[in-house]
Amino acid sequence: APSVAKPGLNVLLAGPRGFCAGVDRAIKIVEEALKRYGAPVYVRHEIVHNRFVVESLERQGAIFVEELHEIPDDGQPVVFSAHGVPKSIPGEAERRQMFYLDATCPLVSKVHREAEHHHARGRHIFLIGHAGHPEVIGTMGQLPEGGVTLVEDEDEARTVQPPQGVPLAFITQTTLSVDDTAGIIAVLAERFPDMSTPAKEDICYATTNRQAAVKAIAPRADLMIVVGAPNSSNSVRLKEVATKAGCPKSIMVQRGRDLDLAILDGVATVGITAGASAPEVLVEEVLARLRERYSLATEEIVVAEERITFKLPGALAGAGAQA
Ligand code: F3S
Repeated sequence: APSVAKPGLNVLLAGPRGFCAGVDRAIKIVEEALKRYGAPVYVRHEIVHNRFVVESLERQGAIFVEELHEIPDDGQPVVFSAHGVPKSIPGEAERRQMFYLDATCPLVSKVHREAEHHHARGRHIFLIGHAGHPEVIGTMGQLPEGGVTLVEDEDEARTVQPPQGVPLAFITQTTLSVDDTAGIIAVLAERFPDMSTPAKEDICYATTNRQAAVKAIAPRADLMIVVGAPNSSNSVRLKEVATKAGCPKSIMVQRGRDLDLAILDGVATVGITAGASAPEVLVEEVLARLRERYSLATEEIVVAEERITFKLPGALAGAGAQA
């Protein structure tokens, strides 16, 4: 049959996008544990916030649980997710003599150590972050109850009442909006001029670069597609950043098949990015979906090169994935 020419669509791909070094390491830890110790390998919480990743590890023999009490004493390893865990979790694993592997991102562990450092110096800590996110639960759980006060936004920064006469410090979640966090810090710094201020907040390189790439393409795009999951903090932030940077419409999709092509009506240029837990194959799915209707003119806008990789934990040393 004669092919009918498809209408054109400009695609701006954000660079960098997708997997960060911490996510890559966390997935490799589960895969390597499966290779070495056989199935099942238990994983406490979604290893990274992406259903596609979780389901492919399940097919390889991983079993996902929310809490350690769901795991039988069968001697098989348990992996803690990239988001980090409260101190009580390795504590419980040790009491039960479980074999655990910690896939906490090294950049999250760094924030845990900062929290301990401030606490050891008698400082009360503001944690800038989102209530209920596993990273926030893990970071707060590094210290005894009451050592940390969560600050979610500028309104809370304006009203928060820390204990009197105690030195103050702040730490942050790694996947926050760079701009929103700067605003929250400014409010705290004005109210508490003696608060100890680090050289840089704790938002990680991957979060920073993915937001910068979205900002670079947002003003040129009529629609931003964020490939990611609604429970992925950094992915949700990318959607917000696109809107704030002037993109008229911004949506999140988990898979190519989730994209309703009707949303493309009237769109000449679409921006595409992916959260740090979303594999590139899902971006390819979205592009394939767009090609069903359009002839794509694709341009990648790269704002930063990333070469960072993290070593696997000691118990898995010697695995192929060394930095
Ligand atoms: Fe780590 Fe940042 Fe990724 S904290 S898991 S490198 S989003």
